[in-house]
Amino acid sequence: MEGIANYLDSLIGGVDLTFSSIAIGGLMWGLFVLRPWDEDANHNSALLEKTVNLIHFGSKTLVITQLSKIGLKIWLMAVTLGKSPFPAFFNTVQFQAGLARAASAFALFLFIKYSLNNNFRSKKHWLLASLTILPLIISAAWLVHGASRLEDRGLLMTLTVSHQIAAATWVGGIIQLLAVWSLNKRNAIAVELWPLLLKRFSTVGVIAVGALLVTGSPLAWYYIRTFQGFIGAGYGNLLMVKIMMMGLALGFAWLNRQAVLEYFSNRSLYALTTRVPYYIEAETLILLTILFTAASLASQPPAVDIPHLTASVDEVLNMFHPRMPRWESPTHEALIAGEAGRVAIVGQVPSEAATAWSDYNHNISGIFLTTMSFFAMLSYSRRFHQWARFWPVGFMLLGVFLFFRSDAESWPLGPIGFWDSTFNNGEILQHRIATLLVFVLGLIEVRARINHNTGSLPFVFPLLAAFGGMMLLAHSHVGFEAKTAFLIQVGHTLMGVFSLILACGRWLELKLDSPGKHVAGFISVFALFQIGVILMFYREPLY
Ligand code: HEM
Repeated sequence: MEGIANYLDSLIGGVDLTFSSIAIGGLMWGLFVLRPWDEDANHNSALLEKTVNLIHFGSKTLVITQLSKIGLKIWLMAVTLGKSPFPAFFNTVQFQAGLARAASAFALFLFIKYSLNNNFRSKKHWLLASLTILPLIISAAWLVHGASRLEDRGLLMTLTVSHQIAAATWVGGIIQLLAVWSLNKRNAIAVELWPLLLKRFSTVGVIAVGALLVTGSPLAWYYIRTFQGFIGAGYGNLLMVKIMMMGLALGFAWLNRQAVLEYFSNRSLYALTTRVPYYIEAETLILLTILFTAASLASQPPAVDIPHLTASVDEVLNMFHPRMPRWESPTHEALIAGEAGRVAIVGQVPSEAATAWSDYNHNISGIFLTTMSFFAMLSYSRRFHQWARFWPVGFMLLGVFLFFRSDAESWPLGPIGFWDSTFNNGEILQHRIATLLVFVLGLIEVRARINHNTGSLPFVFPLLAAFGGMMLLAHSHVGFEAKTAFLIQVGHTLMGVFSLILACGRWLELKLDSPGKHVAGFISVFALFQIGVILMFYREPLY
């Protein structure tokens, strides 16, 4: 059970940021984009109800998340210490700030239910709703790195909270746009509202992005300082992938802005209704992944604090260096003999067999994926399409391979039972989930292709791929061997970014019309190829 608690603890930060973005960003949307009190506001009650319902949902789920977060911390401490963490836990900032956040989210929940719900068009009520959530925003300052710094504490806390508000404005606004689109599709709002709200949000979005840069850059400088810290530490690496993903999200935001400008010059709704909603969906996937990455970043030691544990640029590049994949696996007996060294908490020294076993698993998985992506690329040619489109069968074979090869100390190859190993070890639990995911992904995708991508089944693949990417980015813990853990992390986070590209590409392939769909589809399988290449050259770092 400790495994599950650990695993959930690393995910809950991203869930927390998602729901707080829905609540805070929803209020920003109401105040600055929707402005329901404007004289000329052409908003019907369906739109206002939907907007407020989303914020209500955000506040409700935020209360649950905050309380679960506290519960999880108690559970983890009780399991680790072997005794109850009370009463000392009451005095911790985690408990007090967490409780303040839950109380503030609950206040917003009640205010919406009993007041805003009956006063959709009152500016005063929107402002009051924003006031109720102020303690939630402010108390977050005590849960970030800035709170534990000796110098510039106030400045760092303020910058981080402002950064969080800007992020929430972007993410929450994008989610509100999706809700508006769903109403527009059902003809539940006036036709001109969709372009109007897109235009208004595009201005708010530009300001939010500017604020993210203005607040994020000094934080990055303060916590990283050196180029090596940016390249060679977990903190710097997660920031780097965050910036990459921000680039992707900005790409979609730019396409949307162009389409809006085009509409206001020629009044053609074509791009606004056949492309923009799907770009927004892809942007949402990216932004949510950024939130999970940000939560993971905030839980890592800043690079500036661990210069002696930072990898050199050469060591990082070596992780991606092309080399012959490992073809031969050590025997299972040899692997088990060195297992104690691999799992030691302090002074981890995995045996040669364990290193070779892991290299082999990664490299063969890479060969699976590069071969699959080769057939996937062929499937875009009319000549090969008929049979090459079944390339996802490879996922099922990969799932079987992983089931036998990963976690060889447990069932079916090793002595530890299936359930025992799955629920008592966070690493094994993640591997089991990933293995099942890969197999199910193959199964679903083959069925989708048999049915010529009709129905809703094909959408499972990009959603699972995005989820997989999120997992790769969200669960990056630096343990006692910080440098080695980082060198393992560096390839995995890059694969997380490519999984996200794979997911967005496939999503757009299913949603867009020609030629955009083919371009998106090809980019998607190219991202799969890149994941395959990273795995094919993977080597366990030396301890
Ligand atoms: C150039 C772009 C960016 C830079 C330089 C940057 C930098 C940073 C840094 C250094 C932190 C860590 C603060 C700490 O350790 O306490 C952080 C946290 C955060 N970032 Fe960014 N960021 C950028 C873009 C974004 C974007 C695009 C989003 C989301 C839309 C985002 C959302 C967040 C959130 C929510 C946190 C707080 C995480 C937490 O405390 O749980 N950032 N950012």
